[in-house]
Amino acid sequence: MDCLVINGGHRLRGTLRVSGAKNAALPIMAAALLADGPSTIEDVPDLHDIQSQIDLLKMLGAEVVRTGSTIRIEVKDTGNSHAPYDVVRKMRASICVLGPLLAKRGIARVSMPGGCAIGDRPVDLHLRGLEALGASIDLENGDIVAKAKRLHGGAIFLGGNFGSTVLGTANVMSAATLAEGTTVIESAACEPEIVDLANYLRAMGAKITGDGTPRITIEGVTSLRGASHRIIPDRIEAGTFMIAAAITNGELQIDNVRPDHLMAFIDKLRAIGVIAEESGTGVIVSSQRNLRAVSLTTQPYPGFPTDLQAQFMALLTTADGNSIITEKIFPDRFMHVAELSRLGARIHREGPTVIVEGPRQLIGAPVMASDLRASAALVLAGLAARDTTTVNRVYHIDRGYEKIELRLKAVGADIQRKDEKDID
Ligand code: EPU
Repeated sequence: MDCLVINGGHRLRGTLRVSGAKNAALPIMAAALLADGPSTIEDVPDLHDIQSQIDLLKMLGAEVVRTGSTIRIEVKDTGNSHAPYDVVRKMRASICVLGPLLAKRGIARVSMPGGCAIGDRPVDLHLRGLEALGASIDLENGDIVAKAKRLHGGAIFLGGNFGSTVLGTANVMSAATLAEGTTVIESAACEPEIVDLANYLRAMGAKITGDGTPRITIEGVTSLRGASHRIIPDRIEAGTFMIAAAITNGELQIDNVRPDHLMAFIDKLRAIGVIAEESGTGVIVSSQRNLRAVSLTTQPYPGFPTDLQAQFMALLTTADGNSIITEKIFPDRFMHVAELSRLGARIHREGPTVIVEGPRQLIGAPVMASDLRASAALVLAGLAARDTTTVNRVYHIDRGYEKIELRLKAVGADIQRKDEKDID
């Protein structure tokens, strides 16, 4: 298994380009199953999760050809509509084939996803939404089996105890494009990835309005054509690079960024004293130590994203004072706390809230990545730490960041990928 070995303390300087968004690409690739012709998706990052989605689409009868960062998807055979446990276990986002398969083929069998390192992750809202469109849903041998001759429009409330659901909104919105009549999703997720999916679906001929707001209206059509689409920049990768600049007191020009997708995050960066300025199609981020503590709460978009909570926590260990972080989306998403503590951070957890005491000089140590964003937080902490940090189980980071070590190296980080066996 690979690990990342980081000798910290180097200021990062230079330019980085952000890739297309993984969390936009995954549901968009699934939605290509709705089309009657080929779709071309551009700026798709080269990540393990994307490869898993390609493998799944092939299993479901699509021909998928990747040329650089462009993927062409065309359904050739509709005989198999089963996403088995082996695939869903590896990548929870496989659930986003449920809506497209059901709407296009009248049947979908998708293994029920389990929990994961960031906590319980139910899919009740996805299922309630599809039921409201007229699907019958059963659980057979661990598979969700959804059936409907033709879906019909309906009014659907997708709010749960933790806000809306992003992939649930993607599933119901995708399915409703081919339903008979009009669907209104109330308490829809407003994330930019949902707007990106709606843009792709519209290019295919779908009639959708209101995406980006809590009420999305979809007027069903009888068929959709293939379309070309370019994926939006990954706001979470952009945020991670911005923190990399700040935590190393460096200065990075980060290209292919939509600052309007990161307003809550940039607001907090500025509140602690980081300088972030828009420049062309990106941002320039720099910092001169002397960061201040802050309190923040993760929330559905446009609030502070849960997917940047771990990375921001790493940064706050270097800020002066007690910071308070409350996690409102996944209240158990704190696997990184114990690992950051191994690097010398002082963090106290009380339920969904942690207090980060700073500033602390982090000191390198071997640490274990538990999930994608926790791994990113540990890499960031390693960049700031004195001595050597070894981040084990780095396959988590490969799920969401393309060639992270090469890109960080190019802007001055001392970071190398090694086989865990070769580490003393
Ligand atoms: N929830 C329910 N019932 C459901 C669905 C969700 O109670 O049927 C709850 C969840 O347990 C959670 C909250 O609603 O408390 C929000 O979950 P959501 O469904 O929005 O999460 P998701 O769609 O499964 C996506 C991203 C996650 C990101 C979340 C929240 C993808 C592939 N994944 O997951 O990204 O954290 O939205 O923004 O888009 C990551 O990239 O590291 C990642 C985990």
